[in-house]
Amino acid sequence: MSEPTIEVYETEDRSFPPPAAFAAQANTSDRSLYDEADADYEAFWARQARELLTWDKDFTEVLDWQLPFAKWFADGKLNVSANCLDRHVDAGRGDKVAYHWEGEPGDTVTLTYSELLTEVKKFANVLKGLGLEKGDRVAIYMPMILELPIAMLACTRIGVAHSVIFGGFSADAIVDRCIDAEAKVIITADAGYRRGSAALLKPTVDAALEIGAPSVTDVIVANRCDTNPDMVEGRDHWWHEVMADASDDCPAEPMDAEQLLYLLYTSGTTAKPKGIMHTTGGYLTQVAFTHKYVFDLKPETDIYWCAADIGWVTGHSYIVYGPLANGCTSVMYEGTPDTPDKDRLWDIIERYKVTQLYTAPTAIRMFMKWGVQEPQKHDLSSLRVLGTVGEPINPEAWMWYHEHIGGNERPIVDTWWQTETGGNMITPFPGVTTTKPGSATHPIPGVFMELVDDDGNTVTNGGGYLTISRPWPSMLRGIWGNEERYRETYWSTYEGKYFAGDGARLDDDGYLWLLGRVDDVMNVSGHRISTTEVESALVDHPAVAEAAVVGGNDDLTGQAIFGYVILVGDAEVSDELGNEIREHVGVKLGKIARPKTVIIVPDLPKTRSGKIMRRLLRDVADGNSLGDTTTLADPGVVAEIANRAAESDED
Ligand code: PRX
Repeated sequence: MSEPTIEVYETEDRSFPPPAAFAAQANTSDRSLYDEADADYEAFWARQARELLTWDKDFTEVLDWQLPFAKWFADGKLNVSANCLDRHVDAGRGDKVAYHWEGEPGDTVTLTYSELLTEVKKFANVLKGLGLEKGDRVAIYMPMILELPIAMLACTRIGVAHSVIFGGFSADAIVDRCIDAEAKVIITADAGYRRGSAALLKPTVDAALEIGAPSVTDVIVANRCDTNPDMVEGRDHWWHEVMADASDDCPAEPMDAEQLLYLLYTSGTTAKPKGIMHTTGGYLTQVAFTHKYVFDLKPETDIYWCAADIGWVTGHSYIVYGPLANGCTSVMYEGTPDTPDKDRLWDIIERYKVTQLYTAPTAIRMFMKWGVQEPQKHDLSSLRVLGTVGEPINPEAWMWYHEHIGGNERPIVDTWWQTETGGNMITPFPGVTTTKPGSATHPIPGVFMELVDDDGNTVTNGGGYLTISRPWPSMLRGIWGNEERYRETYWSTYEGKYFAGDGARLDDDGYLWLLGRVDDVMNVSGHRISTTEVESALVDHPAVAEAAVVGGNDDLTGQAIFGYVILVGDAEVSDELGNEIREHVGVKLGKIARPKTVIIVPDLPKTRSGKIMRRLLRDVADGNSLGDTTTLADPGVVAEIANRAAESDED
């Protein structure tokens, strides 16, 4: 395991208690939830499950823990879509807005809970009409349009598990995920708007099905941009056509609490992404709980906005399931924050009077770069709570968020969690916790964490590895189709504990400071990318003989991908070739995984046992101002690699 590379601010002495006026109105403002959970955490979660959700059949057992397999509320029954929709409509809140959706070109749709319910019922019937049954899987590859949550909720209504694939991923990524999950149907759109033009999706699905995903029999295509894609007779169906005749009579089927809700693939330390499994009752309990208390949600009056993409777990839990379970009104935005101008976010906040904003440190650093004049053009006084997620937030970005977006008084919730944890795990409660810029503070009530050293001993002050010592309701239930990998990845490093893969530090006041990944996973703009996956894509290029990939520091994106490649014997070194190799990764994995820089080197520094010395490569990436698309290692860099490889041995 390598050392964490994120800078540590050990001497941070600024702290921000919750403003008195905020605490006075907060959903929680004292230690009572923590005390309750510490006293009896199963009873605590059982209370949350019963209070926050509506069960068709109450559970009698809270937790069944057969390390490393947890079952929560196992003999209870409930339906996710009924919890997110029907019960609000039945309680007379059908006219409440579920989503204020805004397209990038400026078109808008307001969808109420009862309208959303009708669409979900109809689409569930469409899925049934294609022969889908409880336990089946479908893939969803869509832009940020309302058909996406509709499709997800329709799946939950009938017990079909969805596997949402981020719209920026490639045909290969779709193939891998569809094959692994044996998805029967792909739900997509012709395209979505990004930076003013239509980013095509359907042709990527066609390319994927050409490569081959034999389990897929049907494709449903929403028409977003009128791009007129090819439609394969018998296989492809227009969303609006299949919906036109669909019945809106579709009762929600009570599901076992442990019914598979969804798969979400995420990068690990090997070339193959893992299908993280989330189930029904525990997941919905924890996302509803955290959404209510972390964001101090007031469903009657708040306009909440999570500016993530539903293609990632943040969107699953905090655009779809948490907010809808809590019956709140959300904003959902299709496009990029700089289209048509760099004040798009602030404009949306002013127009809809957004009360909570949830975004990522990378976005905040980008807003800093764009300048304070952008938010200053708008009235942001409706904001009450500011959230951040996805990567460590540097104190400078935290202070900027606090000052320029939060007017020096809105609480900031820095939420640490993972695809695997399903919901927030370490975060302040805005009416309770005194925050420090850059610290995610403490685990939520009912979540138990421990920092450990290399030998697994508990660390109570200083640096260590982050582990979770007891199961939690929204924990992953496994890796799809690979029990051994689940045990090995998460449960084998420290006995009896979940190993998160992150380094962290506990300060003298007991505050947690997340330090970034300690495994071979990079975090670029808050997105996880595996070094091994990028290395495989690099060596897949015919001119590349060997490759090593590291995440170097980047002021904007947190980490950036640096690829070092050795060419095959007869390949001619050129800028074009370097760029071609870089683009090849974009095609294989999606643009998000394209290295910032590909450096062609004559050799890679290795230990005597043949292990690539990644730390050295990281130092080289950090210490040298390598251009964005540099292809040729500057002789100095090569010399440095060679020299330093000769000098040290990291075995
Ligand atoms: O390294 C941590 C980082 O993101 C990883 C999880 O990535 P992913 O599964 O893609 O989920 C991202 C959104 C939940 C973690 O292992 N991470 C996430 N949130 C934070 C963070 N690092 C520091 N501070 C955070 N608030």
